[in-house]
Amino acid sequence: MRRLLGKSALITGAARGIGKAFAEAYVREGATVALADIDGDRVRKSAVEIGAGAYAIEMDVTNKASIDAAVQAVEERANGIDILVNNAALFDAAPIVEITSENYDRLFAVNVGGVLFTLQAVARSMIARGKGGKIINMASQAGRRGEPLVAVYCATKAAVISLTQSAGLDLIRHGINVNAISPGVVDGEHWDGVDALYANHEERPPGEKKKLVGAAVPFGRMGTAEDLTGMAVFLASRDSDYVVAQTYNVDGGNWMS
Ligand SMILES: NC(=O)c1ccc[n+]([C@@H]2O[C@H](COP(=O)([O-])OP(=O)(O)OC[C@H]3O[C@@H](n4cnc5c(N)ncnc54)[C@H](O)[C@@H]3O)[C@@H](O)[C@H]2O)c1
Repeated sequence: MRRLLGKSALITGAARGIGKAFAEAYVREGATVALADIDGDRVRKSAVEIGAGAYAIEMDVTNKASIDAAVQAVEERANGIDILVNNAALFDAAPIVEITSENYDRLFAVNVGGVLFTLQAVARSMIARGKGGKIINMASQAGRRGEPLVAVYCATKAAVISLTQSAGLDLIRHGINVNAISPGVVDGEHWDGVDALYANHEERPPGEKKKLVGAAVPFGRMGTAEDLTGMAVFLASRDSDYVVAQTYNVDGGNWMS
């Protein structure tokens, strides 16, 4: 049985990587999925690649007018929103003494403000519709503890875990489940960029950091976006109705909590 049959989903940051893999999985499970991303060309291409059941929206999660327009577009196209995945995020790395306020503002605007205000707009829509819903925020093992070069990103992901708890407790009375997924290290274009940053800051050959973090995962390798789709479908489905305000580690055993 397809677990998301007839459901309408909005996934931010879905032009590539984990968001795109979630969109594919949700379509396989019978949902209609809006892939939203600031990279309009790439997200349109990704929606076409997925095919029937997927469509693209150009959206900037740091811009409230853009968030409202995206929510309205999904409401009109799919008769409301059942599932939101707050997936869009930026990463950066710098030693504490080199962090700039521009970098701090940018990461918090996308990774925290983007999550809060997209969640808020979608929650308003879900409450007005009266059918409840599922909201899934993308946290990270980075939000579970600090890292020397990753202070700002780690802080944004800790904030996502906290927002998930507060929003989860607030919105369950409307039948809206808010939970989060905390991945470890997931291979893809995102980690290509992370590896390049480490190569620069730690004077490593390109590719070395990826090998090291992969070998350190108890499971024995880096994750793939597909490794996360089971949890993403579970949290979007009726099977998670009694799951409230939780953050699930899907990280091959990197973190325990
Ligand atoms: N890849 C990993 O190892 C890993 C680990 C832990 C957590 N995560 C989290 O999982 C999520 C997805 O990660 P990924 O690896 O697929 O990342 P990614 O960088 O491949 O994809 C992120 C997407 O977000 C989009 N985006 C950036 N700013 C935006 C904005 N203002 N508005 C709308 N879209 C915007 C980008 O264009 C991109 O398509 C992120 O929240 C990330 O922090 C990833």
